[in-house]
Amino acid sequence: MTELRTAVEAAIDRLAVAGVPSPRFDAEELAAHALGVERRALWSATSLAGSAGTFAAYVDRRAAREPLQHITGRAYFRHLELAVGPGVFVPRPETEVVAGAAIDAARAVADPVVVDLGTGSGAIALAVTTELPGSRVHAVEADPDAFAWAARNCSGSGIDLRQGDMAEAFPDLDGTVDVVVSNPPYIPLGALIRDPEVANHDPSLALWSGVDGLDAMRVVEVVAARLLRPGGTLVAEHADLQGSSAPEVFRDTGRWADVHDHHDLARRDRYVIATRL
Ligand SMILES: C[S@@+](CC[C@H](N)C(=O)[O-])C[C@H]1O[C@@H](n2cnc3c(N)ncnc32)[C@H](O)[C@@H]1O
Repeated sequence: MTELRTAVEAAIDRLAVAGVPSPRFDAEELAAHALGVERRALWSATSLAGSAGTFAAYVDRRAAREPLQHITGRAYFRHLELAVGPGVFVPRPETEVVAGAAIDAARAVADPVVVDLGTGSGAIALAVTTELPGSRVHAVEADPDAFAWAARNCSGSGIDLRQGDMAEAFPDLDGTVDVVVSNPPYIPLGALIRDPEVANHDPSLALWSGVDGLDAMRVVEVVAARLLRPGGTLVAEHADLQGSSAPEVFRDTGRWADVHDHHDLARRDRYVIATRL
């Protein structure tokens, strides 16, 4: 029998050498996944027993910098557990704050109508619909592989999920939406992506966005201006280096008031909020 603590400590060393940023968390998560238990219950076991080979295979994959969430098949987002894997962007902790801002804006309205542009796994749309039971949530995703993950996660949620280009999305909702939220692609073409998990596993449609990284934000601006009612709220995530340039996309058009940028929990510039005139 493989002693659990010895195997996990060896895996931590292996993942650290491979450059994994959180080797202890990942090793424990993978051991728990191999044993079929939650991580908080991991140390109630003392042996990997028949799961030693499975755990070793998981550690091999993680050491090759496959995303932890692709190996376990799940990602946590606010209070949600989402199914993820190859073909869909893994939701990020910083986006939890962006979703929270959209939820706060929607909460101020009775029975709010909310649209999520580029929903990926469905993370933001699901956070809104589960945290605001009276809301009516619509979401669009262009990438067929990502859409399949969103459809799986959103099944039974009541979300109006559609596959297509956000540029043409929801003409039936024009001028009626209370909150538009988006985490669009925002990496400038040619930028160096250091993390292999991102460079090799996140879908390219989720990452790249023109020479300044703001091509998709300019589309979000036009679509949000079309969808929102006067006084409606736009919440859009951007890269930490776009704290000035992303708000300018909105200020420059004359279609928006109260354009302000906001920080994530690490105090990095992260998202813009604007009000439709
Ligand atoms: C950065 S990911 C964010 C996904 C998800 N909202 C999240 O926060 O985890 C951007 C998403 O937008 C989608 N996307 C990119 N361009 C799009 C377009 N023109 N229309 C609809 N979806 C688009 C991508 O496929 C990807 O799923």
